[in-house]
Amino acid sequence: MATKQENFSYRLWRYDGAPGELIPLLQSAQDHFGYIPRRAISYTSSVTGIPESEIYGVITFYSQFRLRPMGKYVVRVCAGTACHVSGAKMIAETVEDEAGVGIGDTSEDGLFTLQTVACIGCCSLAPVVMVNDDTHGSLNPAKTRKLVRKVSRLARKKTEKKN
Ligand code: FES
Repeated sequence: MATKQENFSYRLWRYDGAPGELIPLLQSAQDHFGYIPRRAISYTSSVTGIPESEIYGVITFYSQFRLRPMGKYVVRVCAGTACHVSGAKMIAETVEDEAGVGIGDTSEDGLFTLQTVACIGCCSLAPVVMVNDDTHGSLNPAKTRKLVRKVSRLARKKTEKKN
């Protein structure tokens, strides 16, 4: 079975300029690195002849692609119907503000990645947010702020223990 690295290399090697090949190529780069680093874009450009600006255009157009690694804590704000009507937008804006990260992005300190997702199956607790594998429900902006601060504090403590 091919490794993720081999898959990316293989796709580059077999690139023949056929339409629609860039996206699978970028997907395999993201599979390999966990995101699409600058060097992968340069390398892809040099092998395929596609200008880097065009590759960036494709990456930024599709929300599935990331230009930064995932944060230590992935915050998923449910945007399903029940959560939407219960204020999911306000919850997402609160996370953006408190964690300093936009939707689909990772914070500068690498701590948080913020995503919106479809129903995660606990609508009775709407609005719902997942932080990694933990589910938090019945949120409002104040509770959301507390949650983000608590996660930040935990992360800082863990970092201090290591040092
Ligand atoms: S809509 Fe959010 S959990 Fe179902």
